[in-house]
Amino acid sequence: MILGVGRAPGKVILFGEHAVVYGRPALAVPVTQVQAEAIVEAGAPGSGLVIWAADLGEEIAVRTAPADQPLATAARLTLAKLELSEPDWRVTVRSTIPIASGMGSGAAVSAAIVRALAEAARRSQESGGRGQESGDSQLPASSLQLPTSNFQLPASDLSALVYEVEKLHHGTPSGVDNTVIAFGQPVYFVRGRPPQPFPIGRPFMLAIADSGIASPTKIAVGDVRRAWEQDRTRFEWLFDAVAAIVEDATKAISRGEVEKLGQLMDGNHALLQQIGVSCPELDALAAAARSAGALGAKLSGGGRGGNLIALVTEETAPRVADALRAAGAVRVIVTTVGSSAQ
Ligand code: PMV
Repeated sequence: MILGVGRAPGKVILFGEHAVVYGRPALAVPVTQVQAEAIVEAGAPGSGLVIWAADLGEEIAVRTAPADQPLATAARLTLAKLELSEPDWRVTVRSTIPIASGMGSGAAVSAAIVRALAEAARRSQESGGRGQESGDSQLPASSLQLPTSNFQLPASDLSALVYEVEKLHHGTPSGVDNTVIAFGQPVYFVRGRPPQPFPIGRPFMLAIADSGIASPTKIAVGDVRRAWEQDRTRFEWLFDAVAAIVEDATKAISRGEVEKLGQLMDGNHALLQQIGVSCPELDALAAAARSAGALGAKLSGGGRGGNLIALVTEETAPRVADALRAAGAVRVIVTTVGSSAQ
């Protein structure tokens, strides 16, 4: 019997990664074609809260899991936030978001768990604490609509909870991932400020190519920190140049001037090369995408591996996707940013 369902999309950073750690703005968008889903069901009496990570074939007992287990942390923080004692529930988690590829898989899984638990808590409360026997197996059409009763969790609270879990993976993340995933819409993000949703004047298409190289964000961020410490003047200049691109891109996107974006992506990629977070494989993917007709291309996320994004059209998308695969991409997702699904 299903008590609660939570879902959350993947994401890509369009512009501004790394510089965002140093107070500059970044633009990020949800990718709704891939998502994480958590389903809460009644467990056996006395079983406590158990998470079944179906993709990994791993069962996690929240009560006894280590303090740094991310899924258990998401669950514990949710129970604390909702002031719930540990229920006898089983949470099944599945995700179609590629793991460790810069598409926010970790943040999305956490967000899905938080939403599913909040919904299960609300339903249990509505049925007078008899949630496990409520018999209500009607699934909500989309759990992106948050519960509206006492266990209401605004996107800002969800984002803050997911941020706490993200710290386990990333050390001191800027907060861009949890923000775009919790709000589920394109955001202009500056660390420490409320996120601003930004308008998309005309939808545009991206090919998202996974280089297949696992590259922990924490390491790239640490290397940039050391390089910045050694030459602050140069790095502050580079971050300012990225910030100028983010501002231009925000204007271009909101005015629907899609053709300008390609050039801005190329410019941001060149700056990321200078910041030291590209790698030969990402540069080869960028070159392949451009020669196949992409209007621009850049790495997205932590770099040194992970994803490359290329600006494509209906006509160029298949050719660019083929060229990216031929140049070594292990997976290519073509998505439209700003479509009604977003
Ligand atoms: O690798 P991702 O997609 O999680 O993005 C990391 C973005 C950085 O700016 C490099 C780090 C951060 O915390 O914002």
